[in-house]
Amino acid sequence: MDYLPIFLDLRGRRCLMVGGGDVATRKTDLLLQAGGAVHAVAPELGDGMQALVDSGRVEYRAGEFRESDLDGAQLVIAATDNRPVNARVAQQADARGIPVNVVDDPALCRFIVPAIVDRSPVVAAVSTGGSSPVLARLIRGRLEALIPAAFGRLAALAGDFRHEVKARISDGTRRRVFWEGVLGGPIAEMIYSGRDNEARESLNKALDDFADAADGASHREGHSSGEVYLVGAGPGDPDMLTFRALRLMQQADIVVHDRLVSQRVLDLTRRDAPRIYAGKKRSNHTLPQESINALLVRLAREGKRVLRLKGGDPFIFGRGGEEIETLAAEGIPFQVVPGITAAAGCAAYAGIPLTHRDHAQSCVFVTGHLKDGTVALDWKHLVQKHQTIVIYMGLVGLPVICRELIGHGMAADTPAALVEQGTTDNQRVFTATIATLSETVEQADVRAPTLIIIGSVVRLREKLGWFETDAGREASLDPQFRMDHPKKGKQLLPE
Ligand SMILES: C[S@@+](CC[C@H](N)C(=O)[O-])C[C@H]1O[C@@H](n2cnc3c(N)ncnc32)[C@H](O)[C@@H]1O
Repeated sequence: MDYLPIFLDLRGRRCLMVGGGDVATRKTDLLLQAGGAVHAVAPELGDGMQALVDSGRVEYRAGEFRESDLDGAQLVIAATDNRPVNARVAQQADARGIPVNVVDDPALCRFIVPAIVDRSPVVAAVSTGGSSPVLARLIRGRLEALIPAAFGRLAALAGDFRHEVKARISDGTRRRVFWEGVLGGPIAEMIYSGRDNEARESLNKALDDFADAADGASHREGHSSGEVYLVGAGPGDPDMLTFRALRLMQQADIVVHDRLVSQRVLDLTRRDAPRIYAGKKRSNHTLPQESINALLVRLAREGKRVLRLKGGDPFIFGRGGEEIETLAAEGIPFQVVPGITAAAGCAAYAGIPLTHRDHAQSCVFVTGHLKDGTVALDWKHLVQKHQTIVIYMGLVGLPVICRELIGHGMAADTPAALVEQGTTDNQRVFTATIATLSETVEQADVRAPTLIIIGSVVRLREKLGWFETDAGREASLDPQFRMDHPKKGKQLLPE
């Protein structure tokens, strides 16, 4: 190890900053966040540093660095663009035994300022020993994704209880078991979902129960009551999971998933967590909703953390509401994590903005599910100008849907797209008009899941398409399909 990682208590300590430019400002901000009393020395200041001085948070002496600036300093940073000055600061600070950092010059540094993930009081610091600050920042990015923003509040809660827990659970092993249950269980989840008061009360109660229990080690505190996580898995590409979804997927004891959840997403659940497939039974009949509801209740009652994983978003054509209604009625704790719904995922990956000031000011999501051989939709309200229609589960009913829309006054040449297995490596996009889409799709041996988008926004794909799979490219070269295929190298531009 080339450097010893340590955390310094700088509160109220004099820190010398030599330099007044942008880099000096950033480092000064950091020192101020840690409570340092910053004194800056520079012939002149940039705007950022001047603002800090004007706000009274930084003391400033105008002029070149001189050795007496080091008097009383406990830490020094040199951030000038003048190497001889930086070298003199480093050499004189070192001679006095004051830790010194010279920005972008590891050879002159006694300490390195790491890349930081700040979830105070939890702080993670990453260093590559000065060899690649960019790599350190990339690693920090990954840590940011892994460490929930609420970790700081969880650590603060644990800090508040630390002495009391130590006093009431004297045995070190039992104390560890207690804390593991608290920090990895429902009490932590309460903090993550913003229920801080409830967490505090539960921790009090858990401590009473645990301290009173004759055999604490057999009492799996924090896991005694189960919980259900209703999580949206997005349309297929695992990159579209939320941080919260991923964290819950990796801690749940058991997984109950739907047919639409992709294998790549399932692979991210905890390895030792059994998986129950609730999508379709082998007989090809959907597992009755009541059975799924009852299953979730039973598993949670057994004390398990149950991951109910659904394709897309659980509250959009996903029956998520029905499932948590049962949980609520049975008093089972649950939380809901949104996912990217198929409409948002498919539209983005097909290069079709669902609204656009020149094309559509509203967008409706409907189900095209066939009932008794027909599709029951409010056609009059669907056929509106400047409106995009997104149809879920519409493949089988597509001919009926297009016929009804035309029958209710929609122009037969209204652009329409069908996105097959959107966002995945198999995505294909077929564009046509509502008069021709059905026929186009019929010839293409399309496989579910598919999503239909209707409206003039579909035309934008020609300009904005950016994601192309091999399957999509192949189909786009086939002259029998009317497909606009994205031009290579195009990226979606932010508005
Ligand atoms: C029962 S609904 C579930 C919707 C899901 N809860 C959501 O928010 O996306 C299933 C329908 O979603 C659409 N769908 C889901 N994933 C899709 C994908 N990757 N590509 C195209 N359509 C998809 C299809 O229309 C499919 O029939």
